[in-house]
Amino acid sequence: MPTSLTKEAHDILLRNDRGGYTVPNSRVYPFQWNWDSAFVALGFDTFDRNRAWKEVETLFEVQWEDGFVPHIVFWQEDDGYFPGPPVWDTHHSPATSGITQPPVAASVVRQLWESAGLAGEQDAFRDRAVVLFHKIWKWHQWFARNRDFEGRGVVVAVHPWETGRDNSPEWDVPAAAVDTSKVGEYQRRDTTHLDSKMRPTKSDYDRFVALVQFGRSLNWDHAAIGATSPFRVADVGMTMILLRANRDLCWLAKDIGLTEAAGDVQAIIDRSVAGVGYLWDESLKAWCSRDTITGRFSGHITSTSFLSFYAGLDDPGHRHAVLAHLERIAQRVEYLVPSLDPDDADFDLLRYWRGPVWSVVNYMIARGLAEAGVPQWAQRVRADTLRLIEVTGFYEAFSPVDGRASGGDNFSWTAAIWLALQDVL
Ligand code: GLC
Repeated sequence: MPTSLTKEAHDILLRNDRGGYTVPNSRVYPFQWNWDSAFVALGFDTFDRNRAWKEVETLFEVQWEDGFVPHIVFWQEDDGYFPGPPVWDTHHSPATSGITQPPVAASVVRQLWESAGLAGEQDAFRDRAVVLFHKIWKWHQWFARNRDFEGRGVVVAVHPWETGRDNSPEWDVPAAAVDTSKVGEYQRRDTTHLDSKMRPTKSDYDRFVALVQFGRSLNWDHAAIGATSPFRVADVGMTMILLRANRDLCWLAKDIGLTEAAGDVQAIIDRSVAGVGYLWDESLKAWCSRDTITGRFSGHITSTSFLSFYAGLDDPGHRHAVLAHLERIAQRVEYLVPSLDPDDADFDLLRYWRGPVWSVVNYMIARGLAEAGVPQWAQRVRADTLRLIEVTGFYEAFSPVDGRASGGDNFSWTAAIWLALQDVL
């Protein structure tokens, strides 16, 4: 029998289901978001396998010819969100945004495929797995061409929203170089739904909008944007996530008999493993984002600094240093893993990606720790995530100190992670 929280998690997903895709939250985010959908699929997979696959398939229905998969799909009109389709102006139908988001889909599809295997149902999903493989591989190749134009083996984000961590202090210095003088008047909608103390500031938003205008001015030519955007930051989060995603995609290719494609994916993995050292900040002894325009490290340790295990990077020197940071941070907060190091001057308990705990990042961190043979920390991260939801509810994010809610409620990916974490890691 499901516990009452498991029942509530099911209800949230079903209520936020718009028929083939799920909105992250009906008021604040009334469309389909890219990495939200991938995590949501993991939740559906615990009680409706077909619906789980459909969530990912719906996202890939809007893939552009060049392989790009947008961060938002505006399946229906809703004026509760800014910036909407006219601001992006991507000339696609359905309307979409012009930037992407962390590519977790491959890792999720591998999990869906394995779970179908455990249930003895892989035959029914084989064709769908092959179709998704090809689409995801096209997206990953798009990343290699357009988000790493210097060929370093990392992911270079051209917009803070692309990283999924909108207002992380990692972007403060690089985004300060963005010219906001021509942004003009606009009306934010997020702060009409939520307390502005929890949201990005006005100057963050001016930069977000200016970068959308920049992409639009290049008619969303991704190669040109990747090469010339005034914001080009090698993001530690997306780099680790894509490295992991390529490993899972390679595994999937072999498992479904696409041996040649598996070799092509492996070549990208090798390039990434060779280049990822670009993001190791020796002075902090941590994995950190880095501005590719100035070469400067962000100087901020965030929750994504702990995704190296998830990416399969586990050499003894780095391992020791990364775990030492985790142990230090665990002394400072009640709930792991805060989105920003509590010893950082920019740490802010409730302001979005400057402190609060996000269940989806915890999920990836915990998996990585478990796979790297650090079960005590994997279990701690898992237990803290479940406890936050038990104590506070299915919120967007949580204060790492007292578990207070930050952001929207009835949040789809938090419900999905509750369900996914019921299984032993
Ligand atoms: C916020 C988050 C982003 C997420 C979106 C929808 O913009 O920063 O990661 O995808 O909300 O939940």
